[in-house]
Amino acid sequence: MLTIRDLPALRETLAAYVSAGERIALVPTMGALHAGHMALIEAAKPLATRIVVSIFVNPTQFGAGEDLDRYPRREGADVRMLKAAGIDLLWMPDAETMYPAGFSTTITVSGVSDVLDGAARPGHFDGVATVVAKLFNLVRPDVALFGEKDFQQLAVIRRMAADLDTGIEIVGVPTQRDDDGLALSSRNVYLDDEDRLRAVALPRALGVAARAIGRGVDAEDALTAAREMILAAGYETIDYVTVVDAETLQSSADLARPLRVLAAARIGGTRLIDNVSVDLP
Ligand code: PAJ
Repeated sequence: MLTIRDLPALRETLAAYVSAGERIALVPTMGALHAGHMALIEAAKPLATRIVVSIFVNPTQFGAGEDLDRYPRREGADVRMLKAAGIDLLWMPDAETMYPAGFSTTITVSGVSDVLDGAARPGHFDGVATVVAKLFNLVRPDVALFGEKDFQQLAVIRRMAADLDTGIEIVGVPTQRDDDGLALSSRNVYLDDEDRLRAVALPRALGVAARAIGRGVDAEDALTAAREMILAAGYETIDYVTVVDAETLQSSADLARPLRVLAAARIGGTRLIDNVSVDLP
């Protein structure tokens, strides 16, 4: 595995891949890797001959007062996990390499970025779309993989990749969960033992609501019950618990469409997000 931190070395290695006719997969991450990230790498293996992983804690997607400064950084463990997984290239730039002095461009994906997490975290998806567009231009992958855990992020990136004619195939990978059902997340390390146990109420409530909606229960009733379950378990606040059209992310309870129940809520000061699909019985 090559670990590269500067642009000339990245360009040289990628040019060699291209002249050898390799098919390149990109898995962008912010590090503090866990089994969710590793599932993206495993999903990439049959799709490409070279796997590039990026680790970059992207400052532009964190709002003022968010956790940029304390976001977990575990470079040694990450490098060991990536070597064991057999990836080819780790791209680990610093902030000056990605955003040199004078950097002034922002990519805004309107519509899908405006609702839910986009409304709760202004500017967040601009930061995500901009850094992912830069990673796409730097690595020029054939295929890029993203987790369904960040369902709205996946929708934003699909839109951006299509709108900007990148030609890159975007692959979504199902959410990996701990044994009790909590979605794996680098931010779970913020939870103390008690909150970690209570946190499982979020996926449970979403599962109950999604099954009810799939059976034809009134969506508002199902979502109200889910909110009550989440708050009763010890979450302090809820940003949203909602059911949306899985493609447009606009509110919908039309069972003829693919639907997704999404939520964001805060426990012990940590904001967790999760989502599940609505399946018909
Ligand atoms: P990060 O939170 O490190 O996640 C990197 C990728 O791993 C994302 O595509 C995310 O959806 C996926 N992922 C995280 N937890 C997962 C889980 N439990 N199951 C499946 N996939 C999971 O998302 C980002 O970084 C950044 O916004 C990034 C896209 C790298 C841009 O900075």
